Amino acid sequence: MAPVTSLSDSVNQQLGSAISATVPEASADPLLRRSDRADFQANGILALAKKAKANPRDLATQVVSQIVTGDVIKDVEVSGPGFLNVTITDRAITETLAARYEDGDRLGVPLKDEPGTTVIDYAQPNVAKEMHVGHLRSAVIGDALRGMLDFTGEKTIGRHHIGDWGTQFGMLIQYLIENPGELAPPDEVDGEQAMSNLNRVYKASRVVFDSDEEFKERARKRVVALQSGDKETLELWQQFVDESKVYFYSVFEKLDMEIRDEEIVGESAYNEGMPETARLLEEMGVAVRSEGALVVFFDEIRGKDDQPVPLIVQKADGGFGYPASDLTAIRNRVSELHATTLLYVVDVRQSLHFKMVFEAARRAGWLSDDVTAHNMGYGTVLGADGKPFKTREGETVKLEDLLDEAVERATAVVREKAEKVGLTEEEIVENGRYVGIGAVKYADLSTSPNRDYKFDLDQMVSLNGDTSVYLQYAYARIQSILRKAGESATPTAHPELELAPAERALGLHLDAFGNTVFESAAEYAPHKLAAYLYQLASHLTTFYDQCPVLKADTPEQTENRLFLVDLTARTLHKGMALLGIRTPEKL
Ligand code: ARG
Repeated sequence: MAPVTSLSDSVNQQLGSAISATVPEASADPLLRRSDRADFQANGILALAKKAKANPRDLATQVVSQIVTGDVIKDVEVSGPGFLNVTITDRAITETLAARYEDGDRLGVPLKDEPGTTVIDYAQPNVAKEMHVGHLRSAVIGDALRGMLDFTGEKTIGRHHIGDWGTQFGMLIQYLIENPGELAPPDEVDGEQAMSNLNRVYKASRVVFDSDEEFKERARKRVVALQSGDKETLELWQQFVDESKVYFYSVFEKLDMEIRDEEIVGESAYNEGMPETARLLEEMGVAVRSEGALVVFFDEIRGKDDQPVPLIVQKADGGFGYPASDLTAIRNRVSELHATTLLYVVDVRQSLHFKMVFEAARRAGWLSDDVTAHNMGYGTVLGADGKPFKTREGETVKLEDLLDEAVERATAVVREKAEKVGLTEEEIVENGRYVGIGAVKYADLSTSPNRDYKFDLDQMVSLNGDTSVYLQYAYARIQSILRKAGESATPTAHPELELAPAERALGLHLDAFGNTVFESAAEYAPHKLAAYLYQLASHLTTFYDQCPVLKADTPEQTENRLFLVDLTARTLHKGMALLGIRTPEKL
């Protein structure tokens, strides 16, 4: 199967050659975009005329005279001060879409010429702690970015940098030693039990820790035992990690998200490399001793009173923290995993941390010019009241409760239409899940990641507006038409047919799928793909209004329209899948 050149790319090429034929030394971008007046409009002549000190309309007229119309371009005319309005032949639209239709799962979208390796750090909850909405965003955005990058041919490696190390484990482990049996064996609990056990142990150990000085001392010694690799201590630490993983997996499963065990590489995985990281930084002079600690200073980064804010690689007591694990992870990801891009999907509130870590790694030569490091910092999840999302009691909302409620509401929405559509109880439950989880994901992904967004379940599961349910209904409606057509008509492209305006609009939008995915992936902007899919569903709605499918004028027209809607369905399905959202067949 062959990749398909999109109509806009082929028009771009033609206009580009016409421009260089007119002004040989120029290499102007035609600046092509979709337009209401024609199929495409090119605005690039204006800048070119300015550079060449020519009259833009004259120049545009000359360029037009170089263009051979017929196969793809039906008509091109000068408009306004020197724009070009381009109309595409109906045949070219149908033929291009037919080639996409023939191409199976890739829909004619080519693969990158030179794929790199992106190590993507996302979905990183913390051991023995409840996941919150912030972890939700990292997981959802990270998974979508990964889906899009994979589709372009980029190699992606996931890293779930879970918080599985730190002084709090001294307290937890010591408590467990003194209260054996408080944590059930990991293989005997489900996610919910695991979390409730962990919570109980966490709270109980905190109480003792805060009130009993002697326990506090024993907990401190336990940290030392953990760090020096004491066997019993490590085994108990492992139990906390394993118990937490049971919980993580249950949440990821609820999120309908595949997480691979070998990609859960938490902070603790970098323990061994941290002393070397510190030694190298000090030897190179990137880090210096300051009040006993090993730190990196940055001229540009200053805090209160204009004091420089350092990155602490090693604390005065010899301990390593979060920065050291991230610096060591960079060394591993670049030299062992051969990353060309390091992508971190982490709350924007950690952007200063990453700025300092990246800069220190550059100074040390661990990040060269060949490696890009980027923190895709996402904004805060707000409640419907516009304030950071909290329960009425002011506590952070449990991620699981939130997901359960979304599924519950979605199931109610699905149930309302279930009889009409003929859904079994099993299908209602399954669809409720896909609609509810899809709604949560889509609401997140359809906003630019760096912005805050409102978690508003009512809006999320609404059938109208820019929601995943709207897109899922568009998909299911097409499936129902295809089922109705059954044996009597097969989706078949008929390039000889003239197209109605709504068919052209739908067709031209379908053709832009590949370019949209590439752009969204390159810019780490899932909301652009989401917006594209929403527009696709809107074009489909207009098409239904204006173009009967099963009752078209001729059998050929019915076949051609079935082909158009089927390609639309496949495009919706693919695009949603890249974002991590399912499209049920019946809804
Ligand atoms: N576990 C951290 C948190 O919950 C996020 C880890 C982000 N990734 C990283 N490489 N630092 O805040």
